[in-house]
Amino acid sequence: MATSEQSIQPGATTAPVQARGLEGVIALETRICDIDGQKGKLIYAGYDIQDLAAHTTFEEVAFLLWNGRLPSPSETDQLQRQLESERTLPPMVLDILKMTPEDADSMAALRTSVSVLSLFDGEADVMTPEANYRKAIRLTARIPVIIAAFDRLRKGLDVIPPVKHGSTAYNFLYMLSGEEPGEVAERIFDACLVLHAEHGLNASTFTGRVIGATLSDMYSAVTGAIGALKGPLHGGANIRVMELLKDIDRSGKKPADCIRNLLAEKARVMGFGHRVYKTLDPRAAILRDMLDGLSAERGTRKWYDMSVEIMHTMEQEKGLYPNVDFFSASVYGTLEISTDLFTPIFAQSRIAGWAAHLMEQWKDNRLIRPRAAYTGPRELTTGR
Ligand code: CMC
Repeated sequence: MATSEQSIQPGATTAPVQARGLEGVIALETRICDIDGQKGKLIYAGYDIQDLAAHTTFEEVAFLLWNGRLPSPSETDQLQRQLESERTLPPMVLDILKMTPEDADSMAALRTSVSVLSLFDGEADVMTPEANYRKAIRLTARIPVIIAAFDRLRKGLDVIPPVKHGSTAYNFLYMLSGEEPGEVAERIFDACLVLHAEHGLNASTFTGRVIGATLSDMYSAVTGAIGALKGPLHGGANIRVMELLKDIDRSGKKPADCIRNLLAEKARVMGFGHRVYKTLDPRAAILRDMLDGLSAERGTRKWYDMSVEIMHTMEQEKGLYPNVDFFSASVYGTLEISTDLFTPIFAQSRIAGWAAHLMEQWKDNRLIRPRAAYTGPRELTTGR
């Protein structure tokens, strides 16, 4: 079939490629992250995700993604101090959160708040590398504060201001409950942030880079990326996973039977399958082990046992493996975090990757503008 895609090629350097959902298409080069979907390997800027999850903090990983190297101890301290100094929200953002209906969608609230942040950032449209780096820090510092404030306000509770010390993980858990999170919870939550920080040209990062490639600003790109992450085929899956686990729990039925029924109805089981991984997502394996330890520590193995049974059933029935959203849902559930905050938490981590990709895009920008193969009618006339 001759398509307009093929007819627009004079001067083009490559043959047209047609791939539904851009599957298998290499759209750009990056030094930030690589995924081997056959072997189940994931690296951030050269470092294996297992190594990073076990031995680094979220702040160190953010630095790694933004600079292409791990920070020295003094650089980590400096980033820590910069994050501390940027955690205060503009009053207007808090006012909007106060006016937000209590049943509002958590990702819609986050998306709106991030967009509003730009109105109060005098550097929002300053596109120097230094200003963009400062905005990366600002967004990384403020997104967790927005999520915690949203959660407190809708429950009729006072907003808990961030403390002047402590990690992103510590601050977030503290701002949610007003209680010391404890070492185990902080460490596990921090590892979750490390695991979700970056994942190549996933849908939200691609969205962000497409917006950034028009030379629009970081807030616009991140607002768009949050919109993409919200969808259930992407970050929104972790909320659906927890809802499924709760439904199965309430039904009192065997998890394996519930999953077989869902598959018989041709339903998608959230938290399984991946466009790139054709084996176990390495992040899911790490999260499964973390959930095992956390469940033992908390003395509650319900979500762990149910998740493992579902994992085996999905492998037997469909040959599908869990992705990052599957076990992270149970980890957050065991930490007793409200279910609809799971995707916003994904965003509070992925901001590190989004910002890294935007800064990389702007180093050597090229407008991202594919074509569509037209399949509609031609040569119609209005007859007027
Ligand atoms: N449950 C049941 N069947 C599935 C699932 C699933 N979760 N995922 C894929 N399949 C089946 C699908 O029905 C199809 O079967 P058939 O060939 O018989 O029609 C086959 O596997 C291939 O699926 P696909 O839709 O062509 O694969 P894709 O690469 O387009 O989809 C995906 C990838 C992530 C959208 C999909 O696996 C999915 O919908 N998973 C559930 C949502 C989810 O967990 N999303 C999180 C993705 S990873 C982390 C993140 O980005 O947040």
